[in-house]
Amino acid sequence: MKKKLVVLTGAGMSQESGIRTFRDMGGLWEEYDVTEVATPEAWERNPELVMKFYNDRRKQLYESEPNKGHKGLVELEQDFDVQIITQNVDDLHERAGASKVLHLHGELKKVRSTRYPNLIYDLDGWELKFGDLCEKGYQLRPHIVWFGEMVPAMDEAVPLVEQADILVVVGTSLNVYPAAGLLHYIREDVPVFVVDPERPPVYMKGVTFIEEKAGEGVAQLKDKLKQLI
Ligand code: APR
Repeated sequence: MKKKLVVLTGAGMSQESGIRTFRDMGGLWEEYDVTEVATPEAWERNPELVMKFYNDRRKQLYESEPNKGHKGLVELEQDFDVQIITQNVDDLHERAGASKVLHLHGELKKVRSTRYPNLIYDLDGWELKFGDLCEKGYQLRPHIVWFGEMVPAMDEAVPLVEQADILVVVGTSLNVYPAAGLLHYIREDVPVFVVDPERPPVYMKGVTFIEEKAGEGVAQLKDKLKQLI
């Protein structure tokens, strides 16, 4: 029986694939006001801006590839039962070959009905337009969890962390809840590894920091995890 390895990832995981983070130098929230592009109020007030923001990011995603870090996490599946829990809305974990990926904040390549949130569709191509309607005739919106909206995937994520034998955190500043709070659901004495060139605020005992970018950091993580197989 393979040990359960849970990996919580954030924007830093995709940075080496050319996808911008949010709170780093040059991050998205330096250029855009989050209240203008990532809240339900923004969608009501200026849907064109919100639509363009996500169309631009979706277009860039089509030009991006999984990086060494994504692939390194897939290689860990040989020795561990790996569950990715990501805050990222890109599909780079899936395209790298990850078997189990749970998206906390939605998925850029999916859209959903503005009236029936359970009507979710794969978007064909990168551009969502006004007039693109769900099967019941209501406008489609990005399938993204905006600030102030519920995070339904937490119901599934919490038990996964509670059952983890090892927790890995890659590329997240741990600024956003409830995602950042997941760390506190691990059982006593579960080892924690954090891969990030800048140490995020993790103050639990038994944490190993690997202060590297994801590509190099996950390679070093693999070596360290060999002792825990
Ligand atoms: N490899 C690993 N980590 C990196 C790299 C890299 N190449 N580059 C940057 N980082 C780290 C940064 O040091 C930082 O700790 O990734 C983290 C990025 O933090 P944020 O930009 O805040 O991204 P994230 O934590 O994923 O944001 C969480 O906020 O805006 C919302 O919904 C959005 O999911 C997002 C959430």
